[in-house]
Amino acid sequence: MQNELLTFVQDTAVSAGKLTLEKWQEPLTISEKGYHDLVTSSDIAAQAHIAKRVMERYPTHGFLGEEDDDSLPSEGELIWIIDPIDGTTNYSRHQPQFAVSIGVGKPIQATEAHLTQYELLAGAIYDPGRDELFSAAKGEGAWLNGRSIKASGQTELEHAIIGMDFSTNKRTGRSSKDVALKLANQIHGIRVLGSAAIAIAWVTAGRFDAYINYNLKPWDVAAGFLLATEAGGAYTNDFGEPIIWDRRGMDCVISTGQFHQDIIKALQA
Ligand code: 2AM
Ligand code: CA
Repeated sequence: MQNELLTFVQDTAVSAGKLTLEKWQEPLTISEKGYHDLVTSSDIAAQAHIAKRVMERYPTHGFLGEEDDDSLPSEGELIWIIDPIDGTTNYSRHQPQFAVSIGVGKPIQATEAHLTQYELLAGAIYDPGRDELFSAAKGEGAWLNGRSIKASGQTELEHAIIGMDFSTNKRTGRSSKDVALKLANQIHGIRVLGSAAIAIAWVTAGRFDAYINYNLKPWDVAAGFLLATEAGGAYTNDFGEPIIWDRRGMDCVISTGQFHQDIIKALQA
């Protein structure tokens, strides 16, 4: 039986996703909030929709959303880590590859706010273009539209299909552009979806054997990390070390557990 928090996270992700889908073919108001970092009126509307629902149901909870909103409490018993549209660039060009990602975690305060860690309890990634809802609850499992999912049993690098997006982390000096060529001739293929959340969800459903990207933000990965844990996957940084949550950006390798270390070795070779 599903827990109440999970059901609410699932319903919230689906309703926000449907909202974005209604508008994705219409002319959009697009702004650039950073270099190549877009925001549309739908990102803002979907995040506000999620926050309103959550505040009505769980008034003691806080928020960490991709879209800045000073009116939302940043602290609380549990934190809703929200990406209202992951794949905004796709969305802004009317490409149907985008998703809502919501992870709910208990915050573990650090001396510096950007290093707050989270114990994830529930998460959902909803891809409205395909009507696919990926979700997970701590210790209970991971599901796609209600069916249990598992990461692939891939054990051989040469047969691996790896999802990547091409970002650079200026702080760590690491870039997926640099590692793509290194991996390309050792594996079956690389796929670029333009949505980290969908790609990670696909790892947990066995469609990709790994996903690699640099400089990901907590809202890109919160739901995906819990899905990976619950679906028998693994996630570390590109040195194979545990990921330390960092709001400034995290370098991430998420894979089917079986050959995670082989990918790390290939990345580091
Ligand atoms: P977004 O669509 O919510 O902005 C595509 O490259 C993936 O990387 C998307 O999930 C995108 O999230 C995310 N992304 C966007 N800007 C990024 C950046 N500067 N560094 C790393 N990832 C980024
Ligand atoms: Ca995102």
